[in-house]
Amino acid sequence: MKLQHIDLHNAITTLSCALDLVGVDEIRHGKRVAIMARAIAMHLNWPELDCLSILYSGMLHDCGVSRIHEHRRLTETLEWDGAEEHCIRGAAYLSACEPLAHLSTEIRYHHSRWEKLLDTPIDHHLRLRANLLFLADRIDVLQANFLNSGLILTEYPAIITKIQALSGVLFAPELVNAFAEIANIEAFWLAMEPEYLDEDLRRIGSRIPTSLLDIPALKELARLFSRVVDAKSPYTDEHSQRVAHIARQLAIDFGVEGYELEQVEIAGLLHDIGKLRVSEDIINKPGGLTPEERATMHRHSYDTFRILQRVFDDSKIPVWAGLHHETLLGDGYPFKTEKKELDLECRIIAVADIFQALAQQRPYRQTMSLEYILNNLQSRVASGHLDAKVVAKLTENADFYYRLAIA
Ligand SMILES: [Fe+2]
Ligand SMILES: [Fe+2]
Ligand SMILES: [Fe+2]
Repeated sequence: MKLQHIDLHNAITTLSCALDLVGVDEIRHGKRVAIMARAIAMHLNWPELDCLSILYSGMLHDCGVSRIHEHRRLTETLEWDGAEEHCIRGAAYLSACEPLAHLSTEIRYHHSRWEKLLDTPIDHHLRLRANLLFLADRIDVLQANFLNSGLILTEYPAIITKIQALSGVLFAPELVNAFAEIANIEAFWLAMEPEYLDEDLRRIGSRIPTSLLDIPALKELARLFSRVVDAKSPYTDEHSQRVAHIARQLAIDFGVEGYELEQVEIAGLLHDIGKLRVSEDIINKPGGLTPEERATMHRHSYDTFRILQRVFDDSKIPVWAGLHHETLLGDGYPFKTEKKELDLECRIIAVADIFQALAQQRPYRQTMSLEYILNNLQSRVASGHLDAKVVAKLTENADFYYRLAIA
């Protein structure tokens, strides 16, 4: 579908798959939380729009979690002292993204105990929404061990009892009561199976009026996800945003404009979205990677391609982003794409990516000087890997691009 035809439901549903990848071995947490929160909201007869927006909040509630270790802590225990940080981070990301800013308060408080929320100066309706996310999130932690084994059907009564014991303390009594009523049927739990989750999300999307995103809104969404990716490691702070900026400027230097230019920027913002699946132990490793670690690292651009294909199919974005580690010699990854298949925009993003990465500190080396970087890019041109014209254009305005990379 063309960029003009992308709707909010599809964009959130598919991009949230990338957030779910942070769970690595348990990758549908966001979707389960979303479907359970919506089911409870519907049982409480919340207005239709509220039921829909709690679904979106559920899918996005962990956008402040980029790191696998943090994800594990959050899904291991019912309460964890460090939980609030990701709520604050996630709320900050969402409030900076206009199409989703209205969800930021409930994300901010989605790990707050009900008894504490009652003293928090926010609208009562928002208290309930935040607490509903907390409830669904914790139910998912309790059911995690029984997922995909069929054991949930014998274990769910114990989960209901545990949640009821926390009524009025961790969770709002009216939410707990609604949960206990609908969770008493097998269907509530069976709907958590992966294919049913995806099917339900598709069905919900097909029944609501389409809400098309314009290009500025799409860019804001892309920026939100780029922040999640960049937060994966202190070493990649702002990497995607800066790559997008450099790539956009280079594209302008080559006369790219309009719709194509917007696609370059979005591809730049999202080129590393597949990295959400890579453990920060690998990204932050000071020494060389083992063959297994390298293989894990190298799959990120393929994951990027697949995720973006689901959202931006029929646009150039999946290809321009997914091919950022291909080379003109055809020895890159993951497709070993040949030179003639690599659009100017792919070549631009590949150069922008290397240029920015070299200007930024990495766990295994310091920041590189501009002179070093230009020599490095030149040697990659000489070996036939990078596009000579793109590197020449960047070199013409080297100081300007260096500032974009680091300032
Ligand atoms: Fe969560
Ligand atoms: Fe990459
Ligand atoms: Fe990158």
